[in-house]
Order: sequence, then structure tokens, then C-alpha cells
Amino acid sequence: MAEVATVENLEQNVREAMARYGNNPARMIEILQDLQDIYGYLSKDLLKEVSRQTEVPLARVYHIATFFKAFTLKPRGKYTIQVCTGTACHVKGSYRVLERLEDVLGVRAGDTTDDLMFTLETVNCVGACALGPVVIINGKYYGHVTPVQVESLIKEYRER
Ligand code: FES
Repeated sequence: MAEVATVENLEQNVREAMARYGNNPARMIEILQDLQDIYGYLSKDLLKEVSRQTEVPLARVYHIATFFKAFTLKPRGKYTIQVCTGTACHVKGSYRVLERLEDVLGVRAGDTTDDLMFTLETVNCVGACALGPVVIINGKYYGHVTPVQVESLIKEYRER
């Protein structure tokens, strides 16, 4: 699980990440990627510390962190649930599966549950159309998912 951020380790981890890239602020993407690997996401405090140590304006650091899809500014759940909403899956009812997941988890697509167990997302075609509706949980594919199966699927992951 991601490291808990304290002021001390923020300072130190930012310093170490910068050092890995020759203290070169032009390597900002790699620096942020390393820090996201440690914390799981890029918090406001972390971005401020990066700005302070690199002397790059905070607005610029934010711009980079929000421009690239690989970065997330919100904490993520232990399990990422992706519901394919591509055409084939849509036709086979993926939206009903998504609605059921939103109900069971109590979050909307794009959000993370308060207990940080699940992040719910939608994705476009993942190339497994024949299996639609497709749901992917931390990289594991589930095919022909029905709304009725959602509750037991979530229960299975909660109990791991
Ligand atoms: S549309 Fe869902 S896998 Fe292709």
C-alpha cells in the first residue's frame, strides 16, 4: 500500500526524487511519476513541496500533473474497477452493470470509496468485445458480467 505522507518524508522523498534526475526541474514528469509511485497519488501538499524544492511555480507543476492522464490528484482505492463502455459492451448492457456498481459502492464513476478499497472508472473498448460487458479489476478480466453478479463480485474483493 502507498506510503502515508508526513511533512518529513514529503521533503525527503521529493529531495531524493529530484536527486535521481540530477536536480533538473526539466525532468518534472519523471520526478512526479516517482512520487506518485510512492504515494499512489499526487496530493496538494506534495505538489507544493515539489514546487518549493524545484523552484518551478506551483501553477506549472499543477499544469503538468493535470495534463498527463497517468497522474492522479486524488487517492486511489486498493482495487481499480474498470467498466468497459465501448460500443459492443454498451450494447450488451455495460451501463446497467456500471449503475449497479455505483449503487453497491456508493460512488460515481471516477471516484474512490471512502475506505480506499475501490476506485471505479469507465474505459473504452479493451479489445475483448466478444466477452462484453467486460469489467476489469486490477487487471483481471471478467466477461459477460450482469448487474446481478456485481454484489458478490464486490463482496469477494472486500473479503480478500
Ligand atoms: S467494447 Fe468492451 S471490450 Fe470492446
